[in-house]
Amino acid sequence: MSPFRITRTLPEDATDAALRADVLAGLAATPKTLPPKWFYDAHGSDLFEQITALEEYYPTRAEREILIDRSGDIAAATGARTLIELGSGSSEKTRYLIDALTSLHTYVPVDVSESALTQAGQALAAERPDLHVHALIADFTGALALPDTPGPRLVAFLGGTIGNLLPAERSAFLASVRGLLSPGDALLLGTDLVKDERVLVRAYDDAAGVTAAFNKNVLTVINRELGADFDADAFDHVARWDADREWIEMRLRSRTAQTVKVPALGLAVDFAAGEELRTEVSAKFREEGVAEELAASGMELSHWWTDREGRFALSLATAR
Ligand code: SAH
Ligand code: TRP
Repeated sequence: MSPFRITRTLPEDATDAALRADVLAGLAATPKTLPPKWFYDAHGSDLFEQITALEEYYPTRAEREILIDRSGDIAAATGARTLIELGSGSSEKTRYLIDALTSLHTYVPVDVSESALTQAGQALAAERPDLHVHALIADFTGALALPDTPGPRLVAFLGGTIGNLLPAERSAFLASVRGLLSPGDALLLGTDLVKDERVLVRAYDDAAGVTAAFNKNVLTVINRELGADFDADAFDHVARWDADREWIEMRLRSRTAQTVKVPALGLAVDFAAGEELRTEVSAKFREEGVAEELAASGMELSHWWTDREGRFALSLATAR
């Protein structure tokens, strides 16, 4: 068994304070919102893994196809000795990269979900006795204190998770990633692409209702952590394509007029019948837009790979 370490860079009470602040601001806003990172408690991480296996949810399969085909090229282009993965989740697709990176010394999975990090990190350390696995419980939208490990570094951000950040958050995020890169380091970025609206909506509103359960899980998290009394059955899952902003918007629509209490915040929140709470966006991209956003953050697109059906892209970028 190779070394497996897990470091918490977020104190438990910081998570708690951040959740309170987010819920307070989000439920007071018009329209109401809740930020997506609170989807991923242990149950939410399990539900997301189920989403990745759904027939309707093509992004995972499309990105896996690219990784299977291109990991050798990525290894040759980067020669990475440290792989840092933001929002690593189950690290399932990352195995193709890890296997191809023949000089790899350390893998640093970064996630807010401790359960996902522990499961994935321990399994990898057991399978790959030569690899150092140093997991970080951290929020990738904040400043990251990375362990001191050998370069070159490859920072991977897969799954199209960048699309879950709002445009202003996205540019701040890319600038902070740029700050992690020294000459010779690279960013590997997974982005879902603009395509037929029906295909997109189906991916976020599956027939079995797994995505609906995942969306509603954020209410369960708030009930547990803040003693709220959200009734998940009193909300409907809504997934809508916004053609102007080119993103899927996930919402929870109140079935009736109701008041929800959040005792830890001293709040009573009124919902009108049909009122919608925005829980998540999932932006879809085009090559020109990705290249521009990378350039605006001081990076340069060096490779653009898509799956055979052109649904999803992996970009490789270096610091300028
Ligand atoms: N990379 C995996 C998982 C994608 S789901 C894949 O491609 O399948 C998004 C992951 O990002 C989840 O594991 C979630 O816990 C994590 N995450 C979401 N917001 C985060 C944040 N602000 N900081 C760190 N991790 C976050
Ligand atoms: N990063 C994933 C995506 O945008 C997250 C995701 C998939 C998601 N399905 C969801 C988030 C449903 C909220 C609700 O595809």
